[in-house]
Amino acid sequence: MESNRTFDDIVNQNIEKNLKQNSEAVDDADDEDDVVTPWTVNASSVAGIDYDKLLSRFGSSRIDDDLISRIEKLTNKKAHHLLRRKIFFSHRDMHEILNKYEKNEPFYLYTGRGPSSTSMHCGHLIPFIFTKWLQETFNVPLVIQLTDDEKYLWRDVDFETLRKITIENAKDIIACGFDVNKTFIFSDFTFIGQCPQFYQNMVRIQKCVTFNQVKGIFGFGDSDCIGKISFPAVQAAPSLSSSFPFIFGEKKVPCLIPCAIDQDPYFRMTRDVAPKLKYPKPALLHSTFFPALQGAKTKMSASDPNSSIFLTDSANQIKNKINKYAFSGGGTTVEEHKEKGGNCDIDISYQYLKFFLEDDDRLEQIQKDYSSGELLTGHLKKELIAILQKLVSEHQEKRKLITDEILFEFMKPRKLIV
Ligand code: TRP
Repeated sequence: MESNRTFDDIVNQNIEKNLKQNSEAVDDADDEDDVVTPWTVNASSVAGIDYDKLLSRFGSSRIDDDLISRIEKLTNKKAHHLLRRKIFFSHRDMHEILNKYEKNEPFYLYTGRGPSSTSMHCGHLIPFIFTKWLQETFNVPLVIQLTDDEKYLWRDVDFETLRKITIENAKDIIACGFDVNKTFIFSDFTFIGQCPQFYQNMVRIQKCVTFNQVKGIFGFGDSDCIGKISFPAVQAAPSLSSSFPFIFGEKKVPCLIPCAIDQDPYFRMTRDVAPKLKYPKPALLHSTFFPALQGAKTKMSASDPNSSIFLTDSANQIKNKINKYAFSGGGTTVEEHKEKGGNCDIDISYQYLKFFLEDDDRLEQIQKDYSSGELLTGHLKKELIAILQKLVSEHQEKRKLITDEILFEFMKPRKLIV
């Protein structure tokens, strides 16, 4: 009833209304929509998240063929398969970044990871594999934020354990092949206290965002600790180049952030704030999620060992997990499969091949043969097992070579050379 509403309710509602009109930091979700937040990903259908709907809910732009061919033309290189297959499917202001690149003006890359569990799984590699390609292709500096503080606030974990996990994760990231001359990796706990400019930017950002706004963007409630409420400023700060004076001096260099789409709320907020601080809005490239073995309703999660292929798994573990758990879109019997064919849209093994099988022709052939029923689930799984075994064992070899000294080099604040 109108008369029961308090003055505060009315003010809050007006603030929300204003926010919707004036900013992109709004998710226009309905009740029956998929849940996509930095903490929860849940699809309402077995085919997984409805990414088309997310594009319009979040108000980002689709990565279309024009954008991909513009990237190819400018870089004189075939686009990465994660881009060609629209696994990176959404963006904000990527054309602005390409305009800069075209004019030989600088930009930098920023990505990150919330260190959790000592072992990463293969889904965690996706943003880093793609970021490495971007770094190589555009020849630009890269900063990687490890948000150990975020994990401390959201999980039940102590500093000592977090320090170890952060180091282990950093080594896995370095093993993806980043160039030490162009890459700065930092943990929030070790770096922020050493860099007044970073902290100043955090506080500048904090000053621009109200409690009401973070409630609206992240769903924080009255009983969330104040650490969580101010954390978004920590993840936003690396989008301002002056947070890294040893790399950029005081220059306002535009930033491009490759990330999974669940991180977008942080950067919608950042994009609202940046112009107020007279900085360019960070541009974004968003990926879809890497689905859990059990099916695309959720993303792969390290906290459920049976939902994940870990980077520490043995060849045998990989084989057993795929055979036992990978959700199949095939028929229940060979006869049924041959008659009706398999459904690639929900078949997890096929989905994984899209992420990791680089050969376009082979992938297309598999898609055809599986859909027609000619290729059986067992064979599809066999192909995937071989690819993942190779990926993981090669990763393990590269990982062995990452010593503490190498890690220290990456984490030292220093000038980057591009
Ligand atoms: N919050 C992210 C996570 O939990 C970590 C992160 C920090 C990040 N900065 C980022 C991810 C920038 C992508 C881009 O994994």
